[in-house]
Amino acid sequence: MCGIVGYIGNKKAKSILIDGLTKLEYRGYDSAGLTIMENENFKTLKNKGRVKELSELVNQESLTGTIGIAHTRWATHGKPSSENSHPHNDNSNTFSVVHNGIVENHIELKNFLKDHDYHFLSETDTEVIPNLIHYYFAQEENETKEAFLKAVHQTCHHLKGSFAIGVLSTHFPDIMIVVRKDSPLVIGKGDGENFISSDIPAYLAFTRNFYLLKDNEFAILSKENIAFYDDNLHPLTKESKKIEWNATSAEKNGYEDFMLKEIYEQPTAIRETIGSHLMAGQSCRFDELPFTKDFLNSIQKIYIVACGTAMHAGLTAKTMLENICEIPTEVDIASEFRYRKPLINKNTLCIFISQSGETADTLAALKLAKSKGATTLAISNVEGSSITREADFVTYTHAGPEIAVASTKAYTSQITLLAIMVLYFAEILEKNTSTLQDIKNSILELPTKAEQLLSNLTEIKNFAKEVYQNKDVFFLGRGLDYNTAAESSLKLKEISYIHSEAFFSGELKHGPIALIENDTLVVSILTVPDLIEKSISNIQEVITRGAKTLIITDKNVENTNFTKIIKIPETNHFLSPILSIIPLQLFAYYITKQKGLDVDKPRNLAKSVTVE
Ligand code: F6R
Repeated sequence: MCGIVGYIGNKKAKSILIDGLTKLEYRGYDSAGLTIMENENFKTLKNKGRVKELSELVNQESLTGTIGIAHTRWATHGKPSSENSHPHNDNSNTFSVVHNGIVENHIELKNFLKDHDYHFLSETDTEVIPNLIHYYFAQEENETKEAFLKAVHQTCHHLKGSFAIGVLSTHFPDIMIVVRKDSPLVIGKGDGENFISSDIPAYLAFTRNFYLLKDNEFAILSKENIAFYDDNLHPLTKESKKIEWNATSAEKNGYEDFMLKEIYEQPTAIRETIGSHLMAGQSCRFDELPFTKDFLNSIQKIYIVACGTAMHAGLTAKTMLENICEIPTEVDIASEFRYRKPLINKNTLCIFISQSGETADTLAALKLAKSKGATTLAISNVEGSSITREADFVTYTHAGPEIAVASTKAYTSQITLLAIMVLYFAEILEKNTSTLQDIKNSILELPTKAEQLLSNLTEIKNFAKEVYQNKDVFFLGRGLDYNTAAESSLKLKEISYIHSEAFFSGELKHGPIALIENDTLVVSILTVPDLIEKSISNIQEVITRGAKTLIITDKNVENTNFTKIIKIPETNHFLSPILSIIPLQLFAYYITKQKGLDVDKPRNLAKSVTVE
């Protein structure tokens, strides 16, 4: 989704802004632009295409300004074009705005402004913002900074939807105003310089101290100072947060792509996520979830709500919650949940899973659940993200920044955290301790097993080279193995653009088997002990119809009819989705590399989906 950066200091803004935009490229975008304050006038440059092209455009100009805002746009209203790119300036070129989010009532606002002789150069919803600021500023008696802030404030009060906004004005060439609601924005505090950005990694190389804005909080930034205001424009005192990540952990670390790096970081991500929640011979610990036995007994239903890969992590948690804690659990896609009138009351626990913590549908589903009286619990990888600020309870995966659009280490970390959380609930509910102990031991072994697995995967690379030209790939599984089938299918289609689907193996005969013909590739996951024989019969059915088969298993399945078997380490079957996905992440990765595509930034996709 769109990315915002801004700089105010003593250095030339242009390279700092381009650097920040480059760091935000992972969010997905189709155009980029910037405004630099040059001698109390705006220099706005923007184009359709990559940040690199914007950088070439910028380098043709001798820009010396030390204050600027910049943006990567992911088109929602209006096609990708230089006119529609941000920043957008008002008609008199005195206010320049970058915006992430959607102004839902932009048509109404545009008509209002047109009635007041404003005109529009783009098809965007954003262009109403600088013009509205101009309109309200013109109503103020004095041209003061307070009046500028008031004009931004009044404008925001007329915007329906979500926004993170950075504003410059030629009337006040030494300040910048920012505000956010339901879209991400952080402020980095430097020494004689300050930064704004859509996420922390963009400016980690410059500062470790960040302020996290809450919804409807405003800030005026100058080189030396940051002043905060609440929604009534009363001054606020805010504590900055020291970020401990080192800047290089957001870089590629010698790997060819972020996705490959992140796949190989999984043992560490799982280890970090286990952290102090689970230690050998001890009960599970979640100090941030102080639930009692009475509370958990009062929960009649759990909804797990998420999108895409995060939703697949929820599928495994559902099986564990129902089998181990005996609490009825449903997994919902957030975009469906928010509109399907789910039956929620005070005896409902709603768990929201989101790597970014900014996914618009998941955030809206959370707000809905809260308004209906449910207890809400957020699981995210990003501290201070919107979802974590809304939920009653929050716990974090510690996968580190995930940059590749296709989620890998966040997924395995999510299942790990959810598994420990289920055990924690089970301990509070005093469920069977010998089963719990076995799962706990297996969780502690996961990082080492993931390492073993990753050290021996050349076979999958070679197999990917053999089959990369396939037009369709089908993934099969039963029980928990279906979850891996669904996630692998998503991984393959999103980065390689190969058509793929996942089916429950038992459903084959009810329709999908009609798709199987000579050389169709069928991938099957076989780890759930009671279901292996049944799954093998299903695989036999596709082999009879000419399919090639790739089998991922932790059992000794000898069958000369299978085209390729990849053996993975055995673990408690509840946890097998954490290991069985790893070779299939690499399978998707190598197929995509073989096709010569950009693995980290697949077409049409954004890392953080902050619009509905
Ligand atoms: C797929 C992928 C997406 C995300 C989904 C939710 O590889 O990454 O399906 O899982 O967009 O994102 P978060 O977890 O940030 O809410």
